[in-house]
Amino acid sequence: MNDLIRCHREEYGEEPEIIATAPGRVNLIGEHTDYNDGFVFPMAIDFTIFVAVSRRKDQHLRFYSVDFQDRKRAALSNLRFKKEDRWANYPKGVISVLLSRGYNLGGISFTVKGNIPQGAGLSSSAAFEIATAYALQKLFDLNLFGPYLARLAQEAEDNFVGVRCGIMDQFISCMAKEGHAMLLDTRSLEYRHIPLNLNHVKILITNSNVPRGLVDSEYNQRRAECEKCVSILNLKKPGTALRDYTKEDLRDSMGLIPESTRRKCVHVVEENARVLEAELALSRRDIVYFGKLMSRSHESLRDLYEVSCPELDWLVKRAWETEGVYGSRMTGAGFGGCTVTLIEEKAIPVYKSRIELYERIFSFKPETFICKPSGGAKIIYENLIN
Ligand code: GLA
Repeated sequence: MNDLIRCHREEYGEEPEIIATAPGRVNLIGEHTDYNDGFVFPMAIDFTIFVAVSRRKDQHLRFYSVDFQDRKRAALSNLRFKKEDRWANYPKGVISVLLSRGYNLGGISFTVKGNIPQGAGLSSSAAFEIATAYALQKLFDLNLFGPYLARLAQEAEDNFVGVRCGIMDQFISCMAKEGHAMLLDTRSLEYRHIPLNLNHVKILITNSNVPRGLVDSEYNQRRAECEKCVSILNLKKPGTALRDYTKEDLRDSMGLIPESTRRKCVHVVEENARVLEAELALSRRDIVYFGKLMSRSHESLRDLYEVSCPELDWLVKRAWETEGVYGSRMTGAGFGGCTVTLIEEKAIPVYKSRIELYERIFSFKPETFICKPSGGAKIIYENLIN
């Protein structure tokens, strides 16, 4: 933190007034269900982003990324998404949503620094949005918390950045509790913190490091397919999202819905059921069954939803073959990114040796990290100048 204070001071000649932090996330199960009003089961990870802010005397916005050694600027009166602003579009999006909701802001100097791997599907962008929203609500005394703040950050991603994501990433980054995963109903936004007492079992993330060029367009396309399917199902039985339908409903509509779309919707319906089963398994400490559900989720994402890729499938297979692994799956939107594996601590070296060939086969270097279930966004420094 001292480093961030120093960077802010050197950049702007002023102390930061607020520093907020927010975590990335890994989703244990419940993939591509959130934009279908379904269930998800993510946890926050111990990789975070820090945002330092101070008020300016003018109406300008200045953004400084310590990690990229990059600077961007904008004016409050003219906030638009600009491709070349890359990382700065996330805080710009949050500011734009706050302004559109009528909150009064002034010029702001930002400094940002973090250690969440970028573009790896661990929600570095949601964490950036949430840390920004947290810092600004404190800086301007807006009194915004919890699910409202998460929605606001999601809107920044949807409307400003242009990825029509669900609520999962922003919600967990904002509302996570240390030592716990979260069962979230993305329709009602009811949630429960579920203790993860895993002892010698670890949550191991493997970054495939596959470049994720396709992810945004494929993501939006999957979402559109789900919505199209609902509009057809709705002719027979009223409903507003795939959450409202069963496998039987999908079977009854065979012939009306293109087969590849129908299979994707089967994934969503079954994945929702798996999340609820996974929560029950965890509550009776049945890690074996929880792991099986994770692995089934991967098969379904690979075969029905078609969002995996050869690299992720390869990594997951090596995990499945390793004794001491309970379950392994791709996590996040897919087309690259990470796998998440539930593994006995003592089996980790064996798994790591099994994936040594990966780089020779695919030409990307995999990275592994053990993650701890961590807490959500918070303010870690306050020095408000009146
Ligand atoms: C991305 C989105 C989430 C969710 C996942 C897939 O991470 O941001 O809202 O849809 O993909 O489960």
